[in-house]
Amino acid sequence: MPGRGALIVLEGCDRVGKTTQASKLLEKLQHRGIPTQLLKFPDRSTSTGQIINSYLTRKMDLPDKTVHLLFSANRWESEPQMKKLLNSGVTLIVDRYSHSGVAFSAAKNEMSIHWCYQPEIGLPKPDLVLFLTLNETAISKRSGFGDERYENSEFLKKVASNFQRLKDDAWKIIDADKDIETLNKELLLHVEKVIESVKDTHLSYFDP
Ligand code: TMP
Repeated sequence: MPGRGALIVLEGCDRVGKTTQASKLLEKLQHRGIPTQLLKFPDRSTSTGQIINSYLTRKMDLPDKTVHLLFSANRWESEPQMKKLLNSGVTLIVDRYSHSGVAFSAAKNEMSIHWCYQPEIGLPKPDLVLFLTLNETAISKRSGFGDERYENSEFLKKVASNFQRLKDDAWKIIDADKDIETLNKELLLHVEKVIESVKDTHLSYFDP
């Protein structure tokens, strides 16, 4: 029995390098013969993802609570497939997940962290959250914001403080102010350890 795969999530604020690191992890794990797939949320290719994309690129306005529930529905669209893959031994590297859902929406003031968390209950819970951090100086040296919604410093400060309130035992806080390869080696050590330690355990779920 190969055992189940691990659910590994990369989180952090904009421009910390999550997407680059996620693809590099995928490449290295596959190279080592570990069955792995990459997921990204929001998944803009699905029906809910297309509405989310229109909202983020400012082609459409929607009430804050509606958008929040759409982001969550976007994860629920993938839930059957995620469970199937994890239980068949495939490790998932996920670029943003429920914690982004909660941290971003709760930064809008209209919704509490508690309220934002409710639609996430029952989704597979990550075995490891790699939370990438960068100090202000390092962030300012990276390429600038695009013009999607949420890409402004004041808002992202509130998001960052919400993330701090969501931490639990599955989180590793990683200083991302390193070159791509050095950072990737550090992440890979955590990932390999978790893949090994969860393979004979049951998947867990976000609980109330
Ligand atoms: P991306 O830049 O990683 O594609 O994410 C798009 C934006 O959506 C980013 O600003 C974070 C935000 N977001 C939410 O507001 N809620 C969510 O549930 C997720 C996954 C992302």
